[in-house]
Amino acid sequence: MRLLDLGGHVGFDSLPDQLVSKSVSQGFSFNILCVGETGIGKSTLMNTLFNTIFETEESGHYEACVRLRPRTYDLQESNVHLKLTIVDAVGFGDQINKDERPIVDYIDTQFENYLQEELKIQRSLFDYHDTRIHVCLYFITPTGHSLKSLDLVTMKKLDSKVNIIPIIAKADTISKSELHKFKNKIMNELDKNGVQIYQFPTDDEAVAEINAVMNAHLPFAVVGSTDEVKVGNKLVRARQYPWGIVQVENESHCDFVKLREMLIRVNMEDLREQTHNRHYELYRRHKLEEMGFQDTAAESKPISLQETYETRRKEFLCELQKKEEEMRQMFVNKVKETELELKEKEKELHERFETLKRTHQEEKRKVEEKRRQLEEEKIAFNRRKAAVETMQAQALQVTSQQPLRRDKDKKNSKGMITKSNVEPLKYSSWWQAIQCCCNCLVKNPTGQERFL
Ligand code: GTP
Ligand code: MG
Repeated sequence: MRLLDLGGHVGFDSLPDQLVSKSVSQGFSFNILCVGETGIGKSTLMNTLFNTIFETEESGHYEACVRLRPRTYDLQESNVHLKLTIVDAVGFGDQINKDERPIVDYIDTQFENYLQEELKIQRSLFDYHDTRIHVCLYFITPTGHSLKSLDLVTMKKLDSKVNIIPIIAKADTISKSELHKFKNKIMNELDKNGVQIYQFPTDDEAVAEINAVMNAHLPFAVVGSTDEVKVGNKLVRARQYPWGIVQVENESHCDFVKLREMLIRVNMEDLREQTHNRHYELYRRHKLEEMGFQDTAAESKPISLQETYETRRKEFLCELQKKEEEMRQMFVNKVKETELELKEKEKELHERFETLKRTHQEEKRKVEEKRRQLEEEKIAFNRRKAAVETMQAQALQVTSQQPLRRDKDKKNSKGMITKSNVEPLKYSSWWQAIQCCCNCLVKNPTGQERFL
């Protein structure tokens, strides 16, 4: 590279100023996630940090699960606009099921939203409200003992997704010597468990020294208060106790000022950069790899997005075709099976129909036979009846002549002989003969003619 000396002023030395003015007009966004058990002092610290009273509502200890509650505020200092989002992990540390999943899911969702915006054809990243979490303030209870396992597990899960700054809350409740030991213990435990907390960058000369010193002070032990107490002739933010006053902004009382300096004044932009360049990049890489995209193909040959897309498309189409063929084959087999079943059923039905038809014909034949027999019997009966009637008539004729001759005076008023006026003893033998003949006919129907 050759170095050239300019003959005069060109003007590109104003480039940083251009960037600054553009950024200022655009405004900034900064998102803080507060993780700590209920009542640890999260809201108070936020109010103390930004020297304002954010709307807050106390959380109960009976939340069913951990939920994330984001609140966005527009702040202005001089001519710089800051869109500040404070996300509270409500109910954390209270539940029997102390799951850190909702927090991890929330962080991932913000990354996913950003990725989706990036992948759009028509992107509007310029005015996109970036909700990715830039820093997680992890509030440690000032027990003086060691870290809780919940703290270790949660920080371990979060360290690859967000910049974690651990802070010891309510540091006024722990003595100076205990606090020193507690800090060392916490750092040792984090180190032992491989938890990566955010380190203030030391690569920028302007802030390397102060950041290095501050790294040695981690975790910051803070006190929060928005109450103003008169110390000497000055009003300071402090917590007043019967035995004295804890000044929030007094560095010999707590690390609040260190935290504010590091978080807001010195490293805010680095936190935003780290979020984008490290945590979001990691998420994006995993996500794209999951989708099948990669930078290098086999034998470390670089592969473009277009090529990957084509390969994936071909693979997908092949798989689709295979699946289609499988499904078609399955359908054909199913149809064949059903056809076979239907055929068997049809055969069965046909056989049953034939059997029923045969039975019906047989029954019909039997009924016909019976009817024919009855017809014959009826004819025979009618013939016998006619014969008997003829004989009765003849017999009556004969009888009527005999009694008339003997008992002329026994006629009824119409002059006809009735059965009542015939004396039984006087029945002649012909009547008995007729009765006998009738009996014979009943016993021997075919002998009628012979009888006649
Ligand atoms: P939730 O949002 O309900 O989970 O509570 P929080 O974590 O926001 O706690 P909050 O700020 O509401 O404070 C709870 C109590 O702790 C209040 O009474 C505060 O005054 C007190 N408190 C806050 N900061 C400190 C501190 O640094 N030291 C002491 N001793 N008390 C504090
Ligand atoms: Mg709160």
